[in-house]
Amino acid sequence: MTHNTSNNKVLVTGIQATGRPHIGNYFGTMKQIVELQHKGYENRVFVADYHSLVSVQDADTLSQSTLDLAIDYLAIGVDPKLVTIYKQSDVPEVTELTWIFNSITTMPYLMRAHAFKDAEAKNKEINVAKFEYPLLMAADILIHNAEIVPVGKDQKQHIEVARDTAEKFNRIFCKTETEGEEAGIFKMPEAYIVSDVETVPGIDGQKMSKSYGNHIPLFSEDEEIRKLVMSIVTDSGSVATDSSDPMAGIPSNVFNIHKLFIGNSDLINAGKTYLASLDSLKEFYRSTEGKYKPLKDALAEDLILFITPLRARRAEIAKNPDEIRQMLAQNGAIIREKVHHLVADIRKKVGFVV
Ligand code: AMP
Ligand code: TRP
Repeated sequence: MTHNTSNNKVLVTGIQATGRPHIGNYFGTMKQIVELQHKGYENRVFVADYHSLVSVQDADTLSQSTLDLAIDYLAIGVDPKLVTIYKQSDVPEVTELTWIFNSITTMPYLMRAHAFKDAEAKNKEINVAKFEYPLLMAADILIHNAEIVPVGKDQKQHIEVARDTAEKFNRIFCKTETEGEEAGIFKMPEAYIVSDVETVPGIDGQKMSKSYGNHIPLFSEDEEIRKLVMSIVTDSGSVATDSSDPMAGIPSNVFNIHKLFIGNSDLINAGKTYLASLDSLKEFYRSTEGKYKPLKDALAEDLILFITPLRARRAEIAKNPDEIRQMLAQNGAIIREKVHHLVADIRKKVGFVV
């Protein structure tokens, strides 16, 4: 197995193993990994099983979802020769780093996190891990000294926490009388968010999310796709904000999902020429004069056309789960080895070396 180490700039991202990925995950992050894997970064992608433990508390479910997600990554075209796919829990040093970050972070700072505020507003009982979720994520990123972190918009604040934490650590532990600020050991990671797909809507028009139950699973079966598309809420929102716009009255929920496929060469080659550009898709929507059924039929058909080959590839890869287990174990060891130097340095900086 070869791993690209050409320019030493690390790309890292993770997804929780909390159920099957949906098209929001795909367009928001997973697709970006496939697109960026050839760009000369050293690519590291992990299944965030520590994070998942906050909500998945059944061993068989967690381990199966972890394995499934690794298969999913491969099925969408993540090349294991270019990307090191690993399990977060195979690098337990991230929890050590999280503890160090706990020690330099205040409770009020973490209380400003959206996820915490949302949970609090809903009067949910918040466990300690959920509260410090952003610090575990900061450790995930900083342990690699990653430069770039492809994520959806909902994770933007978490990347800012990682940057703040890096800065804080550098300020507290890396400045001595003879060293300046530049002696800091953490680099500032940048979020990589593609603005067109930063928030993929679900079938109710809200952000698509497993937890809202409004998602279209990435590897769903044809019948499930048809059923979900038919249940897209069509009477809320509109493609146009201005009533004089020719798109006024065209339902945005169907359009906004359809829009994800603009420029998809496989679909265009299969005769879906209305996906050639935003204008041609708008024209297609206008041409039905507000009749939802043909639009939904077209979206369902396009989704099926798009998902069928992914599903077939997934089924093929899933035939060899032991190979995937072996890949994860090997990659976990590779990543541990790669982070070893930085971890040793961090331990020294905080005073764990006597
Ligand atoms: P999660 O499923 O919450 O673990 O999310 C995994 C990745 O997918 C993260 O980078 C999220 O930002 C991204 N993501 C999740 N839902 C959406 C969505 N509806 N639109 C765009 N990106 C998303
Ligand atoms: N919190 C991310 C999510 O829910 C998953 C995640 C965990 C992650 N650690 C990360 C993403 C580090 C990017 C980098 O989507």
